[in-house]
Amino acid sequence: MRETVIINDVGPRDGLQNQQRILTPQQRLELVRALVAAGVKHIEVGSFVSPRAVPAMAGAAEVLAGLPQDSDRRFTVLIPNMKGYELARAAGATSVNMVLYASEGMAQKNANMGMLQAEQVTADILHRARQEGIRVAAAIAVAFECPFDGPTDPAVVQRIVAQFLQLGADEVSVADTIGAANPGQVRVLTQTLVERHGAERLSCHFHDTRAMGLANVFAATESGIRKFDSSIGGLGGCPFAPGASGNVATEDVVMMLEQMGYDTGIALAPLVAAAELAKSLTGTAPGGRATPWLRRQLERIK
Ligand code: COA
Ligand code: ZN
Repeated sequence: MRETVIINDVGPRDGLQNQQRILTPQQRLELVRALVAAGVKHIEVGSFVSPRAVPAMAGAAEVLAGLPQDSDRRFTVLIPNMKGYELARAAGATSVNMVLYASEGMAQKNANMGMLQAEQVTADILHRARQEGIRVAAAIAVAFECPFDGPTDPAVVQRIVAQFLQLGADEVSVADTIGAANPGQVRVLTQTLVERHGAERLSCHFHDTRAMGLANVFAATESGIRKFDSSIGGLGGCPFAPGASGNVATEDVVMMLEQMGYDTGIALAPLVAAAELAKSLTGTAPGGRATPWLRRQLERIK
């Protein structure tokens, strides 16, 4: 039996929120369907945020309404506040992802709140969601470095992770929002977290700004982390975090993990097709670093 690693593709949210070209809900659904066809079981399909702040995510309810009905998959939406929770719930969301912050600067720029205020809002949503049967994940933004406040103190991340696991979050994700982490730091932080809490409810989210995305995924697997966010075609970047480039590409992460003997449940040929779709829809998706090699292999086995 191969060990399973769960891949949560955040392309339709993290990947598309910052694009010049704004896609319609139907185009976003096309991308989600391509990911589903490749066997991706966890997908972040959009966000319920102010359409003035992030125009590219407008119409998230339409995306939710068009999703394939399949109990086997988990479709999550990102929310920044209670209003987002209520809109998501009204649109039929069953899984939400809240944002927490490891710095004041990022909390202010992204959500116009203080760090502690964001924690309070998330705790309130978590409380309500538990009564209403909604799954709640919480992502800790700028867990390694903040574009405004500089390097993050790991003790801050440890405190927030402990607090939200204690409060009953279904998952807490450590997010390198601007892609500044190195594998040494990732190994130390994830080792500490896994020793304290186990890996069951932890996940990691890496951007590839400094080409360390895959190395960071590897470092986290060495600590026992078995769940990762990644983005099809390497799309991504936060509109409120200057300098952030795309997420680590799903096709690279899947290729690496499968070659290492893990089971992601994802098939590379349709995944490469999904990456091509991401590129044609946005015009900007860089694609995975292994794309030329992958294409050659897929041609050979056709
Ligand atoms: N969804 C849709 N609209 C929302 C909303 C939500 N979750 N939360 C607030 N709004 C609306 C309010 O109704 C209000 O609208 P109005 O001006 O027409 O009355 C307006 O947005 C301002 O509301 P306010 O509560 O004062 O929010 P704010 O101006 O302090 O902005 C956020 C805070 C979080 C809503 C906004 O900054 C945001 O949506 N940011 C998105 C962050 C993001 O997606 N980052 C990338 C991913 S990490
Ligand atoms: Zn991100």
